Amino acid sequence: LKPNITILAIETSCDETAASVIINGKIHSNIIATQEIHSLYGGIVPELASRAHQQLIVPVVNKALNQANITKYDLNAVAFTQGPGLLGALLVGSSFAKSLAYGLNIPAIGVNHMQAHILSHFIADPNPQFPFICLTVSGGHTQIVLVRDYLNMEIIGQTNDDAVGEAFDKTAKLLGLPYPGGPLIDKYAALGNPLAYKFPLVEVANLDFSFSGIKTAFMYFLKKETAANNNFIAENLNDICASVQHSLINILIKKLVKASEMTGVKNIAIAGGVSANKGLRNTLVQLQAELNWKIFIPEFQYCTDNAAMVAIAAHFMYQKNIFVDLEAVPIPNMAFVNA
Ligand code: KG4
Ligand code: ZN
Repeated sequence: LKPNITILAIETSCDETAASVIINGKIHSNIIATQEIHSLYGGIVPELASRAHQQLIVPVVNKALNQANITKYDLNAVAFTQGPGLLGALLVGSSFAKSLAYGLNIPAIGVNHMQAHILSHFIADPNPQFPFICLTVSGGHTQIVLVRDYLNMEIIGQTNDDAVGEAFDKTAKLLGLPYPGGPLIDKYAALGNPLAYKFPLVEVANLDFSFSGIKTAFMYFLKKETAANNNFIAENLNDICASVQHSLINILIKKLVKASEMTGVKNIAIAGGVSANKGLRNTLVQLQAELNWKIFIPEFQYCTDNAAMVAIAAHFMYQKNIFVDLEAVPIPNMAFVNA
């Protein structure tokens, strides 16, 4: 291992402006500014996200350096999320990071956001042993990834349409809940009966997913029930949330079980925003003994978007000299960096 490596990592792929300092693989600061503006619009407005990133990036980076008790002259590299994500949002972080690296005459590191979600498991103990399967579930992605090493990952299943986080947010929107609705569904679901209502599950081949069917079924279900009773949602919110969450988790778990059977891998991790979901976390804990799995569930603070996960990914990339040059551009549909 290279000694005394200090890296600043910047995350601007979506609607959080975040910065983190990692020294020799240990996180020394993890600053996140969540952009509140989007809740007014019921979803992320890309242009507003870019503008907010521009306003927030300097104070967020300064705070990350201060909290780690270092100055920019202590840095050995500057890392940034190169993709996937919103182009305009990624541009703010990548331009800032490359400029800072150039000014300091140190390398820049372009990190894949989905790989960073997975590598967040190496921020704190216990670390999963290789190989493991990671179900990465976020607002933009739903993937089953076979992880053979820090930088050796293969997507073996993914969604054909909506991401599961999107399905959570869209059903919440239909219920009149504010954006992002995923955490609210989770909250009400804890108080309801998961078997109160049934939604048809669409069969999808191999390890892939589809969430558009359940979204449509849910929309028609609400139309029908609210036509019969104006107060249907208000009177049954907990049961509705518990039932829809139960169905979404079922879809995820079915494919996770299949992936474990197909690969023979029993180390199972989850990552991404939806891995904060208590229903999903509890289901995995229950399955652990039944299926002889070893499960790895990230701390809440590392589930949703953050820069600490970008920092740990950059730490592993630095060890292998995986740097980008000044011409590197954001890649909205970026593939994994394997080495
Ligand atoms: O990973 P993330 O922060 O951003 C992306 O990379 O997309 O994931 C955000 C997604 C949103 O769809 C949000 O509603 C969902 O994660 N989410 C949850 C929970 N917390 C965040 N969904 C269900 N239950 C939660 N507790
Ligand atoms: Zn994310």
